[in-house]
Amino acid sequence: MALTDTISAPPRAELANLRIAFPRPDAPPLEVISGVSLQVGEGEFVAVVGPSGSGKSTILRAICGLLKPAGGEVRVNGTRVTTPPPHVGFMFQKDALLPWRTVADNIKVGCELGGTPRQKQPARVAELIRLLRLDGFENAWPRQLSGGMRQRVSLGRLLAYEPDLMLMDEPFGALDYQTKIAMGLELLRVWETERRSIIFVTHDIEEAVALADRVVVFSARPARIVADYAVDLPRPRHMKALRSDPTFTHLTEAIWSDLALPS
Ligand SMILES: Nc1ncnc2c1ncn2[C@@H]1O[C@H](COP(=O)(O)OP(=O)(O)OP(=O)(O)O)[C@@H](O)[C@H]1O
Ligand SMILES: [Mg+2]
Repeated sequence: MALTDTISAPPRAELANLRIAFPRPDAPPLEVISGVSLQVGEGEFVAVVGPSGSGKSTILRAICGLLKPAGGEVRVNGTRVTTPPPHVGFMFQKDALLPWRTVADNIKVGCELGGTPRQKQPARVAELIRLLRLDGFENAWPRQLSGGMRQRVSLGRLLAYEPDLMLMDEPFGALDYQTKIAMGLELLRVWETERRSIIFVTHDIEEAVALADRVVVFSARPARIVADYAVDLPRPRHMKALRSDPTFTHLTEAIWSDLALPS
């Protein structure tokens, strides 16, 4: 056996005792993240839930290298993050499609940024259009799409970038309930085909449990991790069956209590 076979790969993302504070003009710095340690493995799907203003988006920005920690560190693929690391992709709640580019060309942006050779780009774009069920809309403009379709194009662009790690900040939060469930299933289907590590921030406890391998619960600001649950539910997940699964109910109730939500 080669020596390299015995050495396990570093985690995709690793937060080690991370602290983040924002300076304020007339007050001590606002401590937002207070000693958070977290590891996300290769191909792992981790959901993060926590109260509004607890620092969830801030954590994602720190992993992207957009914020300098006040203490501790962030590592991606074993390398300390000081500037935006390669192959870490981001998707926000609001899509950021380019209105002057068609669906196919918006997805192609991901190929261009990710360095896919020019001659391979059309095939990759076509593959993603099929995977995301956008066939027939290749030449449509973003304004001609529904909210769910726009989010699928955003997801296509993210995947075209070939990220090792996908940071998703309430990506389906603005969608209606039905579309949100459909997008969750779409994401799982794609993730099962093209395994990437995902950190998925959401306000929706059921969405977190339904999608993820693990759910990490943040406290109110300054954020600490109050719970880290392994979601022991079989895949592929079937949304309707999940709702009556005792593991699903038990987990959602436990997270509800962790967040001290009114019953
Ligand atoms: N650039 C910044 N400068 C100063 N304060 C900031 C900055 N970015 C975020 N904050 C503060 O950090 C705290 C956490 O913000 P963050 O956006 O991470 O919360 P969140 O958990 O994502 O909330 P939500 O669920 O509402 O999206 C908030 O109090 C916010 O005001
Ligand atoms: Mg946020």
